[in-house]
Amino acid sequence: MSIAVAIDGPAASGKGTISKAVATHFGFAHLDTGLLYRAVGARVLDGMDAVEAATSLDFTDLDRDDLRTGPVAQAASKVAAIPEVRAALVDFQRAFARRAGGAVLDGRDIGTVICPDAEVKLYVTASDEIRAQRRYLELSSKGHDVTPESVLEDLRERDRRDSERATAPLKPADDAVLLDTTDLSIEDAIAKAAEAIRAHL
Ligand code: DC
Repeated sequence: MSIAVAIDGPAASGKGTISKAVATHFGFAHLDTGLLYRAVGARVLDGMDAVEAATSLDFTDLDRDDLRTGPVAQAASKVAAIPEVRAALVDFQRAFARRAGGAVLDGRDIGTVICPDAEVKLYVTASDEIRAQRRYLELSSKGHDVTPESVLEDLRERDRRDSERATAPLKPADDAVLLDTTDLSIEDAIAKAAEAIRAHL
């Protein structure tokens, strides 16, 4: 059986947590596609050319422990606007989506570009303030030197760049189910996503 679940949305909307949880629940594989762009961004910060970094990306690059930092997130958003970088990462994501046993991919363009024929498409959002608060708590608990204001500014800048770029911008697919997690607990958000997936099994 091949079933693809596409989960898109802006930074810190909850899509990563939801994706992991529903993948575990249904026994599907999970790919956080943001990590691919973060790994490319990290290599660019090391001094590599962006397109070369994307075309020669290795799985060990996804294990770097600096991928969750603010500077790498911004670098990821910048390289993600380069069409050749995106093109270099398409085949891997499409093959992952169609692996036997089911797959959940989360990102920005999964339902629109990578997997327009995904069986289930979700678009996860939350207010800017709630997303910034969640990301601030996550980063500060890991010892990163951030303020709530800097995290909010960072998210807004990244969302703007991700939504306004010409190639594969962040936007909901026409047939995506919208899930606003602003006032939802993690458990309720996961339950709603699981319900949408179950309807297609
Ligand atoms: O999901 P994330 O915050 O880890 O993603 C980091 C950046 O990567 C994000 O700002 C935009 C880019 N990205 C993308 O353009 N397309 C995807 N499918 C996933 C991430």
